[in-house]
Amino acid sequence: MASPVLQIRDLKVTFSTPLGPLVAVRGIDLDVSAGEMTAVVGESGSGKSVSFLAAMGLLPKSATVEGSVVLDGQQLVGASAKVMRSIRGRLMSMIFQDPLSALNPVHRIGAQISEMLRAHQHMTEKAARSRAVELLEIVGIPQPGDRALQYPHEFSGGMRQRVVIAMAIANSPKVLIADEPTTALDVTVQAQILEVIQKVQAQFGTAVVLITHDLGVVARVCERVNVMYAGRVVERSGIHDVFDRPTHPYTRGLLASLPHAGADRLVPIVGFPPNMLKPPSGCAFRTRCLHAVDACGHGIPELQPIGESMTACVRAKEVGVST
Ligand SMILES: Nc1ncnc2c1ncn2[C@@H]1O[C@H](COP(=O)(O)OP(=O)(O)OP(=O)(O)O)[C@@H](O)[C@H]1O
Ligand SMILES: [Mg+2]
Repeated sequence: MASPVLQIRDLKVTFSTPLGPLVAVRGIDLDVSAGEMTAVVGESGSGKSVSFLAAMGLLPKSATVEGSVVLDGQQLVGASAKVMRSIRGRLMSMIFQDPLSALNPVHRIGAQISEMLRAHQHMTEKAARSRAVELLEIVGIPQPGDRALQYPHEFSGGMRQRVVIAMAIANSPKVLIADEPTTALDVTVQAQILEVIQKVQAQFGTAVVLITHDLGVVARVCERVNVMYAGRVVERSGIHDVFDRPTHPYTRGLLASLPHAGADRLVPIVGFPPNMLKPPSGCAFRTRCLHAVDACGHGIPELQPIGESMTACVRAKEVGVST
């Protein structure tokens, strides 16, 4: 496999809150290689967004980031605000659920994309404008020349998300982080946006991290999956292994709660995600796990190989890998 363009090691994020320190990310490792699409899945609050906001240098001052995030050979943890500004949008871009938050309502779409280009590249206004139109075409916007002259409110939700993708890829970043990019869109449009992201990944060799709570979305487009629970990666598997041979009890829970053909009812995971101000000792999932034993309370389990997967469950081998 190609060497990873983004390499995260033992990343920890702690927020200082009025109720005390909240450790949202508790030591995660993650690699993404060029041209690869990796998923990060997990319930709300598991630390998906915070991990990548940390990598982008976008967390508030109340956050302390430790560990290592190396992008294309450069260490980002501890990098200055100036360095991070030069990296964001050039080497690594992030898109979010709500495209409007990334667009300026009073500027034309084409002008916003050309501004993004000229912020990082020496380009004439004219060259940037024509590249902006090309980018709109790449992300599948019809009549891109006319559309470039319109404002965000003249676009539908799906078309706006395409525009945001065009902006994010304008400077051919090595890494694109897509945080729930389709959650706000209806199902047909969701599929189209995933296709656009896939096309970008294939055409430009971009490494893509797709953050989602929806395993259904992952199944369509990703090669590898990182399952997060309570600020840790608890399972890392190839896409087929995740669905056919999930190794962590939490992954099985996620699969059982997924709607699928033939299921007469969904089986939600019992209980609630832990309060991250006071996570349980040992394996954080043990309070909800059908297989938990006393040993699960002793020490946070590390990822271990099981079959083709990596799993952070001390009982994975005993409990077996079938659903
Ligand atoms: N600015 C902040 N200050 C304090 N705590 C925060 C802050 N941002 C996030 N958190 C906490 O960090 C934890 C992880 O949040 P995060 O947003 O990464 O979850 P997520 O996995 O992206 O969830 P979702 O699926 O809802 O987007 C949560 O417990 C959240 O409450
Ligand atoms: Mg999130």
